[in-house]
Amino acid sequence: MEQMDKHRREDFVQELFDSIAKRYDLFNAVLTLNQDSYWRSFAVNKAYIKTGQSILDVCCGTGKLSIALAEKAGRQGQIVGLDFSETMLQQAKENIRKTPYSQRITLLQGNALHLPFSDQSFDCTTIGFGLRNVADIAKALSEMYRVTKSGGTVLSVELSKPSAPMLKQLYFLYFEHLLPLIGNLGFKKNQPYYNLPASLRTLPDHSEIQKLFLQVGLKQVTSYQLTGGIAAVHLGIK
Ligand SMILES: C[S@@+](CC[C@H](N)C(=O)[O-])C[C@H]1O[C@@H](n2cnc3c(N)ncnc32)[C@H](O)[C@@H]1O
Repeated sequence: MEQMDKHRREDFVQELFDSIAKRYDLFNAVLTLNQDSYWRSFAVNKAYIKTGQSILDVCCGTGKLSIALAEKAGRQGQIVGLDFSETMLQQAKENIRKTPYSQRITLLQGNALHLPFSDQSFDCTTIGFGLRNVADIAKALSEMYRVTKSGGTVLSVELSKPSAPMLKQLYFLYFEHLLPLIGNLGFKKNQPYYNLPASLRTLPDHSEIQKLFLQVGLKQVTSYQLTGGIAAVHLGIK
């Protein structure tokens, strides 16, 4: 995975999500023991969202974070969910259809590394469990920074690595040994389960992500470690 060049890696990630789109929400709930909804809602509550704001949700996948954002942004709020996987977007469409927010969420196929928006287009820009998957984290953050208005918020919620030694060992035991077994029992395609530990090992830890937030120019950068450091929320103000 680390050896792949950016384009090959993007193709790999896109195919991966195309192949698991239908099972992604279930997979996530099993994988995180249902903590993912709590992590998203924690993130949304920290994002300084006011009613009526325009929000871009990068790497929106099946739309779970976009839906939570729409709930928070109220009737006048406008959310754009962007992802490069067509099948993840189809699943997002289905998920959004079951909510009262269909009119307020627009889905768009596009690349996080080349956001198709002009500078300063959104009050808030979010990425949920996406930084781990993009081929260039710094570039994705600088694109999010670019399209966010001055005074607006850039936020990431992502799986992270616990720092306490015992928890760290348990964590990798779970992701590298137990999870593939669960995957083999319940799901046909186990490739994502083998990819996940690799993507977690190469993901910068929460202090490095904080540095990247500062490097793109964000101010008042804050981070929260959730569930013993298994997930982390980072946010900064432009
Ligand atoms: C783990 S899923 C996260 C989905 C969703 N945000 C959530 O909260 O569950 C990661 C998503 O990032 C998308 N993705 C990865 N790299 C991307 C890129 N360069 N541009 C757009 N989408 C990308 C994948 O297609 C996938 O849907």
